[in-house]
Amino acid sequence: MKKTRVALIGCGRVARVHAEALVALDETELVAVVDIKPDRAENFSHHYGVEAYTDYKEILELPDVDAVQIATPHHTHAEIAIAALKAGKDVLTEKPMAISVPDMEAMIQTAADTGRTLGVIFQNRYNDASQAVKQVIEAGELGVIKGIRAFITWRRTDEYYTESDWKGTWDKEGGGVLIDQAIHTIDLMQWLVGEVDYLEARYDTRAHDMIDVDDVAEAHIVFKNGTIGCLYANCNYSYDAPIFLEIHGEKGIAHIIGDKATITIGNRTLTVEQQADETTGLRYWGFSHKRQIRDYYRAVQAGKQPFIDGKAGKTAVDMVLAMYESSRRQVPIYFPYVPGAPSCKKNRGGCCGR
Ligand SMILES: NC(=O)c1ccc[n+]([C@@H]2O[C@H](COP(=O)([O-])OP(=O)(O)OC[C@H]3O[C@@H](n4cnc5c(N)ncnc54)[C@H](O)[C@@H]3O)[C@@H](O)[C@H]2O)c1
Repeated sequence: MKKTRVALIGCGRVARVHAEALVALDETELVAVVDIKPDRAENFSHHYGVEAYTDYKEILELPDVDAVQIATPHHTHAEIAIAALKAGKDVLTEKPMAISVPDMEAMIQTAADTGRTLGVIFQNRYNDASQAVKQVIEAGELGVIKGIRAFITWRRTDEYYTESDWKGTWDKEGGGVLIDQAIHTIDLMQWLVGEVDYLEARYDTRAHDMIDVDDVAEAHIVFKNGTIGCLYANCNYSYDAPIFLEIHGEKGIAHIIGDKATITIGNRTLTVEQQADETTGLRYWGFSHKRQIRDYYRAVQAGKQPFIDGKAGKTAVDMVLAMYESSRRQVPIYFPYVPGAPSCKKNRGGCCGR
């Protein structure tokens, strides 16, 4: 099988994980790196022995680039992805795929129109722990799922925000702890349980004076199958604690704590733990970037839709944007999410116009 020739756009914090996967995998070849900061592009260029560029539009003209991987600030994902798809490149973008519903819809539509493949990174779905829990849910071993709760308590220092030109801003990051950190777990919640019926959320900024985006948030989520979801997230804690995710079924209960799943059904307990051999990234990022990148290019090469395509990548962002809107308007938000649509909990048939 011919390798897919990939250009990596964005040479910041997470980019090393992408580059390492692209050079290690049989399916891919890293052929170019791009960053608007020349020193970052040069640094990657020297390390990986590939050409450096400072304008992503230049690599879209290159016939020997088949695909691009996007690891840039959130507000740039849609513009770069749409331009790359129109230039005939396949696109794998970091989460969140974009920071507005119209941008996400435009990306999905452009992929459909051009026939190119759009994928979105949510690597934690590929974790052994997540896969094991998904399997027992799908096999019906937990019975009807009654509840799901998640706690994300991480630490983002003042310097994390002051040293970045986009973190902690509504216009560039699109939010704070919900859209950047908690989104992985929010994605797992909906992937494990199913479609959202409605949610209500509140957010605040409590521990970082230099930002006005959320550094703490909570949400009550009701899924279409009746499952009750509780979410608490902050990035004000003392360290990056392992995420906690519980799935409560009528026949059993599953916990994911960091990389480890513990599933108890009757008097049987199964534990699944993943070893740190899959990536060079930070532990709280999970160990599965390489798995998802491999799976994406296998799908591209087989002419199939990837496991997490644009539509699948959009759901968690819809939930996050709905949480922000719910908090601002102080109302529950019903799904499918339409920004600004009326909300009325008591009178769903004929809305009272709240
Ligand atoms: N999946 C994960 O676990 C995970 C972990 C960390 C970050 N991320 C995501 O990866 C993306 C990047 O995050 P980061 O922490 O590496 O950010 P970063 O700020 O460290 O790096 C972003 C880089 O993109 C460059 N850049 C900005 N605009 C550009 C443009 N138009 N063209 C080319 N380069 C451009 C910047 O100069 C910077 O070097 C974000 O979407 C973030 O949410 C995902």
